[in-house]
Amino acid sequence: DNPALVDTFGRVATDLRVSLTDRCNLRCTYCMPAEGLPWLPGDDVLTDSELLRLLRIAVERLGITDIRLTGGEPLLRPGLEHLVAEITALRPRPRLSMTTNGIGLAKRARAFAEAGLDRINISLDTVDPETFVRITRRDRLSHVLDGLAAARDAGLDPVKVNAVLLRGINEHEAAPLLRFCLDHGYHLRFIEQMPLDAQHGWNRADMVTAEEIFSLLSKEFTLSPSPEARGGAPAERWLVDGGPGDVGIIASVTRPFCAACERTRLTADGAVRSCLFSNDETDLRALLRGGADDEAIAQAWRTTMWGKLAGHEINDAGFAQPIRPMSAIGG
Ligand code: GTP
Ligand code: 5AD
Ligand code: SF4
Repeated sequence: DNPALVDTFGRVATDLRVSLTDRCNLRCTYCMPAEGLPWLPGDDVLTDSELLRLLRIAVERLGITDIRLTGGEPLLRPGLEHLVAEITALRPRPRLSMTTNGIGLAKRARAFAEAGLDRINISLDTVDPETFVRITRRDRLSHVLDGLAAARDAGLDPVKVNAVLLRGINEHEAAPLLRFCLDHGYHLRFIEQMPLDAQHGWNRADMVTAEEIFSLLSKEFTLSPSPEARGGAPAERWLVDGGPGDVGIIASVTRPFCAACERTRLTADGAVRSCLFSNDETDLRALLRGGADDEAIAQAWRTTMWGKLAGHEINDAGFAQPIRPMSAIGG
């Protein structure tokens, strides 16, 4: 019997994405409605000790080598510095990263670095304060920019920036955003918008495609393929004006990378998912709270991953969005 998380297509999941909370302090229009969502009740969310037990099983028994903390907004999880320290104390030690909107990071980046966080990805769709309010419905651009600078100053390396372009809203900011990131030493990646918003408002015509992003950038920069190996990474990378600066494009919809997927996911309420887009989840929290032993939990996790589909099916007729929105799965 194979101890790792393998599926019927022979892929091996070594990268675990953990949603620490489904809550967020922004309200990005492409993610959730202004009023927010019916958040998970507190008792449903895994406690730190429950979560640490699952993560220990993942690294000890399931071959997980990389853990990413996501949300909602992971910084809203109380005591996160402590959790980071406990995760990096697991053996074998996983590489640990976080994907955050950066709000409140300015004061905490150093503590995260000291607790062992290896690197960080920060979402930033615009460097224009008015466009920031229009997209996120909150006036917090300066907080995010301070968070970015603090992450870099704390030695988190690389600092990556994630940007979603919205047609007619921040499309024209692709080049200025790249200029900003190059000037500050951040690695920018543009992401194609996926049908994962809580409002189910995604439509293909509004999605700014990877090809469009490439031509928008090519008006102001010369892009050449990055020599770095892509591996299972979602981003295709390009050197900007010969390097060393670079830019990534995450073409989830138009050039899916599911065949190289190395991911498994855990929601804040303890469900394992084999894919962002899967609808069959396994409730590990019920096993945990029901007294299951480590091997029973590991086996339930393996069984879930074995059922992973070949890909996300966004481009297939009859595609249906998963029940959980992005903010409750972890990006
Ligand atoms: P690194 O490059 O290792 O830093 O990871 P990453 O780019 O996967 O991490 P991040 O959390 O910053 O994710 C960036 C974006 O990639 C997300 O917002 C998603 O749009 C996309 N993404 C992440 N995981 C998946 C996935 O499993 N499938 C698809 N289709 N897209 C994903
Ligand atoms: N499609 C693509 N990316 C999305 N994000 C949020 N919703 C979507 C979506 N529907 C991005 C955020 C953040 C990252 C974690 O996911 O902008 O950068
Ligand atoms: Fe929050 Fe991320 Fe959704 Fe924006 S995209 S509302 S930052 S969870």
